[in-house]
Amino acid sequence: MAKRAPAPAAQNFDVVIVGSGAAGLTAALNLADRARVVVLSKGALSAGSTAWAQGGIAAVLERGDTFESHIDDTMVAGAGLNDRRAVEFVVENAPAAIARLADLGVPFNPGDRERFHLTQEGGHSRRRIVHVDDATGWAVQQALERAARAHPNITLAPERVGVDLITERHLADGGGDGGGRRCHGLYALNRETGLVERFVAPATILATGGASRVYLYSTNPDGATGDGIAMAWRAGCRVANLEFNQFHPTCLYHPQVKNFLITEAMRGEGGKLRLPDGERFMPRFDPREELAPRDVVARAIDHEMKRLGLEHVLLDVTHLDPDFVIGHFPTIYRRLVELGIDPTKQPIPVVPAAHYTCGGVSIDRAGRTDLPGLYAIGEVSQSGLHGANRMASNSLLECLVFGQAAAEDILALGAPAEPVPAVRPWDESRVTDSDEEIVVTHNWAELRRFMWDYVGIVRTTKRLERAGHRVALLKGEIAEYYANFRVNPNLLELRNLVTVADLIVRSALARKESRGLHYTLDYPQALPDAVDTILTPDPEKP
Ligand code: FAD
Ligand code: SIN
Repeated sequence: MAKRAPAPAAQNFDVVIVGSGAAGLTAALNLADRARVVVLSKGALSAGSTAWAQGGIAAVLERGDTFESHIDDTMVAGAGLNDRRAVEFVVENAPAAIARLADLGVPFNPGDRERFHLTQEGGHSRRRIVHVDDATGWAVQQALERAARAHPNITLAPERVGVDLITERHLADGGGDGGGRRCHGLYALNRETGLVERFVAPATILATGGASRVYLYSTNPDGATGDGIAMAWRAGCRVANLEFNQFHPTCLYHPQVKNFLITEAMRGEGGKLRLPDGERFMPRFDPREELAPRDVVARAIDHEMKRLGLEHVLLDVTHLDPDFVIGHFPTIYRRLVELGIDPTKQPIPVVPAAHYTCGGVSIDRAGRTDLPGLYAIGEVSQSGLHGANRMASNSLLECLVFGQAAAEDILALGAPAEPVPAVRPWDESRVTDSDEEIVVTHNWAELRRFMWDYVGIVRTTKRLERAGHRVALLKGEIAEYYANFRVNPNLLELRNLVTVADLIVRSALARKESRGLHYTLDYPQALPDAVDTILTPDPEKP
């Protein structure tokens, strides 16, 4: 066996941030004047969901709109499961968050009467979404990265795959006098060297995004594998509401292109959903028609596809002025034309696809998790904002507001009294290089397929139990594989995916009602009280 290089020295910072999307970079920029920060990302800095966001960011900016209205719309979309105080906190901080992005140079489309042009999306009773054409996320990501690169206190560390959080059991003294349970940073695999590095700090922020890649069809980039949720769970944090995975109603249906989103803003501007014979079906399902909340629209599409045996439905904007379509949705227009679909002349084939993880690591208003020293912000977290169904364009907003809140909390705590603990290097003494990569690829494909078939838009107890049996089998196989072989990025993601799949299935089985995104034929009604599903890790049964 080839001799391995010695373990790299531990790297010490004031704050370790895992994730370089809207949440992680916002936190970094709010910390950096007073703290030394490292921001890790498991691939390129721009490879998270943030850069893919199309529609925009919700905020009360139009004359006549009110915080109360944005709060009410969010609670209605969330089927009453939202934490009202979290909703108020985010909504009331939204205009300032947008102003800060504009100050950083995000070129939001200007309005005629208002400072910014505002679009509308499902669930919103007003025009409330600021945007940069139909590629808002890319503009936000670039502005945040530019500011982060320019700050001398921010170290950007791409191509580092977080393996596990460092807790008291990883300390050189065995955690004996370490002051009890606490997070001390992160072990991360350096993709270039193949070595596991130690990033040590008194405060660690998980900003690792969602887990929608646990499903076969998803709008998300490859890395949305729920790593932060799984790492926090292994470190002893509670997770909540993971049964609520949002399916976006309109992902492009195309044999070669699997995860291209067609923004909800197209329906906001008048796009209609049709069956192949041209019939509009949404009026049969909801008085809000195409602008009903996403859970309603996705379920209606799923129902029609199953009823008629269709592979997709159609999103029609051919009745809109072609110049308007091209001008407002230039990115989508270009991409569709490349694929041979001219949306100004023909309807767009669309299907629902897994889009957003509404549940996640349980946090308080400052982003604190159950583990002292560990924060979670953005899509990885469950802050109480989204309830049983996230309203469109509220998630980038959550990243911005909680990114700032966590940073302020860390700065308010000041420097820790304890010296920086010595952390053990990553132990590779009992593992070898894998000779059976097929195990990883096979299990990966199987997991996503049964999550799609059994834990999708419409559920039954029987289907969930089937999924549960398969998760248990895969968990065993993957745990054995992990114990014997050296870590690599695919294995790490698969290990996290199976953990998240397990948590989703357990949460779904625990909810004996239908609410928001969780719809089960066995309990089709909502119960009178809306209650969170909270799972607590058992250290004896990982
Ligand atoms: P992300 O932006 O996903 O970033 C995650 C970061 O964590 C990445 O840097 C990644 O490399 C890193 N990471 C993950 N795991 C590890 C690990 N193990 N080790 C190290 N680093 C790790 N929301 C809106 O509000 N408006 C929209 O218009 C909108 N449109 C969307 C369109 C699409 C196609 C998609 C996919 C999502 C959209 N969303 C939208 C949702 C929104 O983009 C995301 O919820 C949000 O960007 C999440 O930001 P984040 O900072 O939490 O995570
Ligand atoms: C979209 O543009 O439809 C996505 C918006 C969102 O997910 O918030």
